[in-house]
Amino acid sequence: MSHQADINTFLHPFLSSKGLRLSIYNMEAYLNNVRADLSLEDEDLKEMTAKFKEELELGLEKHNQTLRALPTFVYRLPKGTEKGKYLTVDLGGTNLRVGLIELLGSGKFAIEKASFIIPETLKTGSGEKIFEFIAENVKEFLARPEVQAELPLKLGFTFSFPIEQESLSHGRIIGWSKEIECPDVIGKDAVELLQKALHRLGLDIAVEALVNDTVGTLLAQIYRDSRTKMSVILGTGSNAAYVESCANIRKLAIEADHTVINIEWGSFGEDSPSNLPTRWFDRLLDSESRNSGHQKFEKMISGMYLGEIFRLILAEGVKRKVLTRCEDSKSTSKLDLIHGIGTEEMSEFHQAYIEKDYIKCSEIGEGFGIECENGDGLLQFIAELCELISLRSCKLCAVGITAIYRHVHNFDDEEEVFLVAVDGSLYQKYPNYAKILQDMVCSINSGPEANSCKIELVMAEDLSSVGAAAAIAAQKE
Ligand code: GLC
Repeated sequence: MSHQADINTFLHPFLSSKGLRLSIYNMEAYLNNVRADLSLEDEDLKEMTAKFKEELELGLEKHNQTLRALPTFVYRLPKGTEKGKYLTVDLGGTNLRVGLIELLGSGKFAIEKASFIIPETLKTGSGEKIFEFIAENVKEFLARPEVQAELPLKLGFTFSFPIEQESLSHGRIIGWSKEIECPDVIGKDAVELLQKALHRLGLDIAVEALVNDTVGTLLAQIYRDSRTKMSVILGTGSNAAYVESCANIRKLAIEADHTVINIEWGSFGEDSPSNLPTRWFDRLLDSESRNSGHQKFEKMISGMYLGEIFRLILAEGVKRKVLTRCEDSKSTSKLDLIHGIGTEEMSEFHQAYIEKDYIKCSEIGEGFGIECENGDGLLQFIAELCELISLRSCKLCAVGITAIYRHVHNFDDEEEVFLVAVDGSLYQKYPNYAKILQDMVCSINSGPEANSCKIELVMAEDLSSVGAAAAIAAQKE
């Protein structure tokens, strides 16, 4: 592992004490530290991949390991021929989606859906309120005449948080992630909580499948293309699921050939710091987080956190007088607030820089609270920072994908393409992310011959609800 460059030891002795804009030299010195902090060499990636594979295999062998590797009780994978109409509820870290999904057979489907932003006020306090919020929106959705006409409907519930499943349609909430903190419902059955909230509103709907978003995405993409073996979410949070041979799940006796494992990969390296090289900003971010000490891998990868890493590095630059605050910036700006800068804004800056729209870059930068006028070098500095942070995220994600690929490879048909369904706002929207991730995965996994990379990433946009419907339908076939 490359050694951590402690920011303080790199400060150049000529740092200006006047607090004004420093020379390019100092900016370059700071950037060098940041480059060192965010770099992951090939050797690091190799080491981490081996550790990830080890942690995954431990998770399959015993309960309560760092990688939980949660069995999902999905024993029948969709064939693509399933048909039927289903009601779906999809609770993520940012949005709630309610939908009516029609599986049309031949891998096709139709969706009608409504999307709601989860209010910040619901993200802490009683978890019951989150389930009330879901039930109210289901009620509203059911009032649509075209939905009314289809009742009664079975419900598939996509729940994008860790759940210990007891069957396909029951599972206890292990804990929250993505800065949601509602401890009162931990240990409770997510389906019962939803069912009760629906009953309180007079809705009698049977919840027939409970799936994590990774599992829903995987099943939906299998419905479209049976060569799919894995799914990855790169959105507010990050996680992966894959098709596992039951013989490999030694912690549970399962009488089926294959099932789906929800890895909950966000916790990789959590209990063995040497497996995951965190830096000063990762540790600061973790200490200010609602689930401090947890989801450290996710905190280096996902959309909830990249903007915050960006802010911490910029704010440190201001503190070190490498960057200057806008003169008209109020005493507190986005730079001073935890999660003050979102990954979306960082992405917007990066995109504008790629498009050489430097005026827009300056405007966005000033919106952060940084003096950007006449700052060519400065814009370049910020753009490189965006690139370094997003590239590290990509590399870590490639580590996870490679480790899983190498784990399953021995029972996979070596000739067949290994399709990975990928979804999430970071993957969909961050400039070049999808392409860089594909290239990275292939550069790690190519054999000596040209075009020998078998791993192909496919965009599985907003499919997690479709997978919940397919999970119900596949059990009937
Ligand atoms: C978080 C959740 C996980 C989910 C992922 C992506 O890591 O713990 O269950 O799959 O976010 O939404």
